[in-house]
Amino acid sequence: MSILDALLVGSAMMPERYKQLGVEEMERRVRDIKLKFGSRLLIPGHHYQKDEVIQFADITGDSLQLAQQITDAEYIVFCGVHFMAETADMLSAPSQTVVLPDMRAGCSMADMANMQQTEAAWERLQAIYGDTIIPLTYVNSSAEIKAFVGRHGGATVTSSNAKGVLEWAFKQKERILFLPDQHLGRNTAYELGIPLHDMAVWDPEGNELVTDRENVQGIQVILWKGHCSVHEKFTVDNIRSIRERDSEVQIIVHPECSREVVELSDYAGSTKYIIDTINAAASGTKWAIGTEMNLVNRIIHTHSDKQIESLNPHMCPCLTMNRIDLPHLLWSLEQIEAGKPVGVITVPDSIKVDAIKALDRMLNIQ
Ligand code: 13P
Ligand code: SF4
Repeated sequence: MSILDALLVGSAMMPERYKQLGVEEMERRVRDIKLKFGSRLLIPGHHYQKDEVIQFADITGDSLQLAQQITDAEYIVFCGVHFMAETADMLSAPSQTVVLPDMRAGCSMADMANMQQTEAAWERLQAIYGDTIIPLTYVNSSAEIKAFVGRHGGATVTSSNAKGVLEWAFKQKERILFLPDQHLGRNTAYELGIPLHDMAVWDPEGNELVTDRENVQGIQVILWKGHCSVHEKFTVDNIRSIRERDSEVQIIVHPECSREVVELSDYAGSTKYIIDTINAAASGTKWAIGTEMNLVNRIIHTHSDKQIESLNPHMCPCLTMNRIDLPHLLWSLEQIEAGKPVGVITVPDSIKVDAIKALDRMLNIQ
């Protein structure tokens, strides 16, 4: 569901009175509800969430870790973005209720591929290549896109397992259609040894394949023209200016950054990989990190023995992740307590059946 769709379905909005509450009172009320519900309530928190929210998370992780750790709690209050809550709904039992504390917490990348565009692309690509393509989608996509991929024999991927899933996909078919993040697709395929000239971009606006190759039959990876508006803000100039200032700074970025940025960095990997690398780094080492700002700030505060900065000094947090704040968390918990949950995420069975196939294929590749 796009952010616009979420607003159009008339989701309930948090009453103004929650904005007037003091932090201490809100924290106390959240703690009380957590205590009251115990294991009947699970709060998963993605690493990009604000500190004021993550402090109440029962489990924290990247999108793969969170998908793997869903318990049998009656209520799952998902502190992350819409596609993650949809995944939690699909991987949990029908008796469990998944709640997203603010329905406006979407993902601009996930909104870059809709069903109409995907069906149109598939038709054109089948006409060019026949039955030689397997579709893969980054989990940062709607449940409908996951269902499309599942229906056509493909799988979902996350930034933690993209390499393994692409290797699996090449054993199934000659070509991959990778939705919706061109950068994760390109960086992963390149890491597997696919030359850049064997990759083309699918432009969903023009409904066309963009390549300078004359013989399109040589294309092995078709990259959907989507991107993350947060990670695209890390640039080659950011890297050059840090290197000029201090050659000892090591640069680590998320693979949603462009190929050029990944190429010039020292390390690239998922959110979990970035956290693990900094945790294992020696005291006194210097780092510039190219990923979401809430996480970078948290890493800075937990590693006072290292010199850590954001790769882009003017970086902002992911605005949609930031929609989930303490007032929204409290409101959603109090609605559950009152027996009137709001922001309930329910993927229709007609979509779930095929989307689960794509998710299961990914989870079985681990
Ligand atoms: P991870 O898969 O690393 O959790 O990333 C999710 C995301 O939204 C990155 O922008
Ligand atoms: Fe989506 Fe980018 Fe925000 Fe991740 S950081 S949720 S990909 S907009």
